[in-house]
Amino acid sequence: MAFHSHFPIGIFDSGVGGISVLRAIRDQMPEESVIYFGDQGHIPYGPRPMEQIRNFSEAITKFLLERNAKIIGVACNTASAAALKYLREKFPNVQFVGMEPAVKPAAEHTQTGKVGVLATPATFQGALYASVVERFANGVELFQNTCPGLVQQIEQGNLSGGETRQILEDALVPMLEKNIDTVVLGCTHYPFVIPLIQKIVGANVRVIDPAPAVAKQTGRLLEASGMKSMSESRGGVDFYTSGDPAALESMLPVLLDEGGEVERVEWLDDTRIK
Ligand code: DGL
Repeated sequence: MAFHSHFPIGIFDSGVGGISVLRAIRDQMPEESVIYFGDQGHIPYGPRPMEQIRNFSEAITKFLLERNAKIIGVACNTASAAALKYLREKFPNVQFVGMEPAVKPAAEHTQTGKVGVLATPATFQGALYASVVERFANGVELFQNTCPGLVQQIEQGNLSGGETRQILEDALVPMLEKNIDTVVLGCTHYPFVIPLIQKIVGANVRVIDPAPAVAKQTGRLLEASGMKSMSESRGGVDFYTSGDPAALESMLPVLLDEGGEVERVEWLDDTRIK
């Protein structure tokens, strides 16, 4: 496999969540082209068995590599928890950037020593989260919540309605009672509801969106491997979904501030894309 600097960055998520990472990449590296894969036919990943998420992730990685991706952004905490280590072993020549809950900056920043973490069940169950907590929590008390149903609300474009608010209040109010001063967003869907989260927790609680740091890390890896785009013009984004292309197309201007065409992709089974 030979990679070139003008090849695109490949990004995937179970749905629109990875667009929070894509948005940061567009901001920081507009000259890069991107292929975005949202596996909306399988959403949500969070409650699924690890092995199945691993199979999906491997097939999507192959799909992106076949389309010349020069680096793969696993823009999904759940897929990172289930598959990142496996993908790195399986594709040793490929560069991957993954997600892990931002416990490290949260633990460094908190004054009260109490931090809330929002993520999916699979993310909390995975070895990656356990290792992040072990390495970085440093005596800080973590309060976790899986926000059941929140990913689906965000997928439907419900970023501020009553149901979304209820899910977030159920998660955050008990944490506020424990005196948290920091909230870690351990799911790439959640940055889209930061305005609502901030309303619930108030201005004195810091909400950490990891997307800018992940985009930065992507840029660093491209730089170090000589793979940064040299183009002087803005790169394009090709979108693929295993769900409804029209629905994703209609959400792009809201989530990304730019439109795009979306192509539909079919799964043959859990391990193969047509
Ligand atoms: N966006 C995903 C994450 O970062 C997963 C959402 C889901 O499919 O459950 O964890």
